[in-house]
Amino acid sequence: RIAGPSGLVIFGVTGDLSRKKLMPAVYDLANRGLLPPGFSLVGFARRDWENEDFAQVVHDAVKEHSRTPFREEVWAQLAEGFRFVPGEFNDDDAFEKLRSTIDELDKARGTGGNFAFYLSVPPKFFPKVVEQLKKHHLSEGRNGSWRRAVIEKPFGHDLASAQELNRTVHEVFPPNEVFRIDHYLGKETVQNILALRFANTMFEPLWNRSYVDHVQITMAEDIGIGGRAGYYDGIGAARDVIQNHLLQLLALTAMEEPASFEAAALVREKIKVLGAVKLPADLSKHTVPGQYVRGWQGGQEVAGYLEEEGIPPDSRTDTYAAIKLQIDNRRWAGVPFYLRTGKRLGRRVTEVAVVFQRAPHLPFDSTATEELGQNALVIRIQPDEGITVRFGSKVPGTAMEVRDVSMDFAYGESFTESSPEAYERLLLDVLLGDANLFPRHQEVELSWTILDPIEEHWAKHGRPQPYTSGTWGPAAADEMLARDGRSWRRP
Ligand code: BG6
Repeated sequence: RIAGPSGLVIFGVTGDLSRKKLMPAVYDLANRGLLPPGFSLVGFARRDWENEDFAQVVHDAVKEHSRTPFREEVWAQLAEGFRFVPGEFNDDDAFEKLRSTIDELDKARGTGGNFAFYLSVPPKFFPKVVEQLKKHHLSEGRNGSWRRAVIEKPFGHDLASAQELNRTVHEVFPPNEVFRIDHYLGKETVQNILALRFANTMFEPLWNRSYVDHVQITMAEDIGIGGRAGYYDGIGAARDVIQNHLLQLLALTAMEEPASFEAAALVREKIKVLGAVKLPADLSKHTVPGQYVRGWQGGQEVAGYLEEEGIPPDSRTDTYAAIKLQIDNRRWAGVPFYLRTGKRLGRRVTEVAVVFQRAPHLPFDSTATEELGQNALVIRIQPDEGITVRFGSKVPGTAMEVRDVSMDFAYGESFTESSPEAYERLLLDVLLGDANLFPRHQEVELSWTILDPIEEHWAKHGRPQPYTSGTWGPAAADEMLARDGRSWRRP
């Protein structure tokens, strides 16, 4: 899978994402030999830079963040294809310059007119940028070449705004040339959910309401909001990661087997399962928003959310969210899916835990199984990538005592191949036109349909529950599960 002749234009190239993820990903792809020799990278931003200044910025970003070793010869060839176009998004001259730059690269580097436009800019600029691309004849390829739009989250902040954005983008780019980034889908372990389920026989027979008690999807972060107050406040944890990453994890875990591994077949199944998601009737009982307060983390005292720079002292933004969902179909009826995420939690971990029902009958005396938990299959998304199966085993000794043990698969031990960074994989797929790992607009809209009533409920009812930094979230979230006779896993 090597990309054909092509180039990439990044709008908002001076931003964090570009420096930390996109530039290093381009270099790593080149280093792995996955880009065409004439690959070209055009930066567009409001800076007074020459091509050389831009190359220097990319160089520093690559040195600091790329995964693969720095090789002069790879760098030199890549850097010949760097161009910078200074300008504002409403500046017609800048877009004309962009057009002539692309024409020049077609001749000089053989990019074949194939370009992807990466909108790494706040969503309020999407309409202007796509409008300019159309106006300056950049959005359509000529003589069989392609033009694609790559869009970063957040894709709207509710259903109405997401629909509006979809309309705007689709007026300029056809749906199959629009690639929405959900970087979780670029993660190896997330893709492995489908491999685990559909390349094997031993899991799928159990993967339903007859055996599964409930599913827990956790995305915990130890970091706070850092310097992202401007983006995060008013958005909150649920919009930031449940609407996209966690609902995608839910879809992959719960969907039916697709007829093939084609984008269209995958999307069909994801839409079906997201469309079957039902919210609990009483949102006060079955959802919990939280907000971190001052506490200790990693031996250091850290500030509370309201003390962070740029956060209004009365902010009601959720930095933690726990939500119970049901999936109304034959496979999952009655099986709750508990989703939770938060900043400043105990540690950084993302996992999907499928927790099985207890054995219907235990032929041991009751003291033998006092310490026995429920069987579980845990897909460890990060950081300790792998899969764990928890089950009961006899404790060695003369008495019958059964206790939980685990069987582990760890990527590092089973494979010598290293995982590409999520953005590397996704950028390559954009250049190849492979849409498997990109949410389609229907999925995005369905996700907002799920989230909107919860956000509205939270907006109406009170403040988020405070939780101390470095803990596992508000007590109300523990109570939410306790009422169902369950508890959160401590990863
Ligand atoms: C992003 C969110 O989508 O994902 C961030 O906007 C979050 O708030 C990040 O920190 C986490 O990504 P990862 O890959 O580190 O789990």
